[in-house]
Amino acid sequence: MLRIENLRKTFSGNERERITAVSDVSFKVEAGQLFTLLGPSGCGKTTTLRCIAGLEHPDSGKITIDGADVFDDTTGVLVPAYRRAIGMVFQSYAIWPHMTVRENVEFPLTVVARRHRLAAKGRTRLVNEALELMGMGAYAQRPSTALSGGQQQRLALARAIVGKPKLLLLDEPLSNLDAKLRERMRFEIKRLQTELGVTAIYVTHDQGEALALSDEIAIMRDGVIVQQGNPNDIYNQPGSDFVADFIGSANLVFGTCQVAGRVGELIEVELEGGVRASGSATCDLAEGDPVVLVVRPESVKTTPLAEGERAPEGQLIGTVRARIFLGESVDLLVETLGRELRIRVPADSAPYRPNSSVALDISSRRGLVLRDDRTLSLSNKVEDELGLATA
Ligand SMILES: Nc1ncnc2c1ncn2[C@@H]1O[C@H](COP(=O)(O)OP(=O)(O)O)[C@@H](O)[C@H]1O
Ligand SMILES: [Mg+2]
Repeated sequence: MLRIENLRKTFSGNERERITAVSDVSFKVEAGQLFTLLGPSGCGKTTTLRCIAGLEHPDSGKITIDGADVFDDTTGVLVPAYRRAIGMVFQSYAIWPHMTVRENVEFPLTVVARRHRLAAKGRTRLVNEALELMGMGAYAQRPSTALSGGQQQRLALARAIVGKPKLLLLDEPLSNLDAKLRERMRFEIKRLQTELGVTAIYVTHDQGEALALSDEIAIMRDGVIVQQGNPNDIYNQPGSDFVADFIGSANLVFGTCQVAGRVGELIEVELEGGVRASGSATCDLAEGDPVVLVVRPESVKTTPLAEGERAPEGQLIGTVRARIFLGESVDLLVETLGRELRIRVPADSAPYRPNSSVALDISSRRGLVLRDDRTLSLSNKVEDELGLATA
């Protein structure tokens, strides 16, 4: 349905320096899928989306929508935005304040190429359908300035789908809503997308949103895609510590590989503090290699300890610093090995009081072992902090 090949887009910065927003991005999206571009602020998500929409002129690469090239620098093809059959929801919504709700939704239908223009009656029908679908029928005559945040969001969605686009582009559509509404609109968007069967590209920096909504996720960093896969793969098999850290609330514990092993094998590692654990290797590792063990909050076994009690052999001892209620579960922030680990326990488990001691069993074999790329920069940082670098 959508194919992006070697997309590149730079902007002129101040003076002679150029900013590379999108360096080299390629991906394919199957019809009817919800594909998410996930990454930290500034990594090039919006620019990629705007190139697909035809709102930016890429430097090079190729974009194909539904079998038709809409951009190709080698042939000079550049199809204008209004001919791309795309619906877009902008982060800011871009609702026109001087128009009513109905006029806002109708607007895209009045700007399509003249020969495709619909008669007024056809337009009214499409606008009514879109408003009904978003539960906004009763607000059609309201000035668009008299809407709540959630209603503005629905209006923006109605306007994006009114022209029955082949492709729906959503740029951080929930970022302006409060947490509760965000949760609800998440499901509204998924419902809308499945009901319409429309292919969607969803841009967000929120990993929870991406995991909940997507058929496929591409993680971006500095203008390139660093990993792509379904939510399950991305969550369970992050290919780098950047992805592991960015997705979910992974704990990263540093250690050393004990016995060499190949990718996919169970590897034993010795962690700081002398505790041993094991996990699947994400690359080939040699004995003595510095590694990072990625431990999910839900895969640490936790037991409360009485005052003065020691942790069982092979387990870490930690101090509960904070509790975060998540409904059915509680996340504990536990201080151990000089850092905080995030650990998930059922809400009805023993009360873990702040400052009480706990034993942590992280040997579950469910962890992942990555090569520690950061050893150099980390040790530099430590040297900096100790003032050794300048000595
Ligand atoms: N019109 C522009 N002019 C100059 N720099 C831009 C422009 N748009 C985006 N950038 C820069 O390109 C990079 C990627 O931006 P963007 O695509 O908006 O990232 P994201 O949506 O992932 O936060 C950033 O460094 C940003 O400052
Ligand atoms: Mg953006």
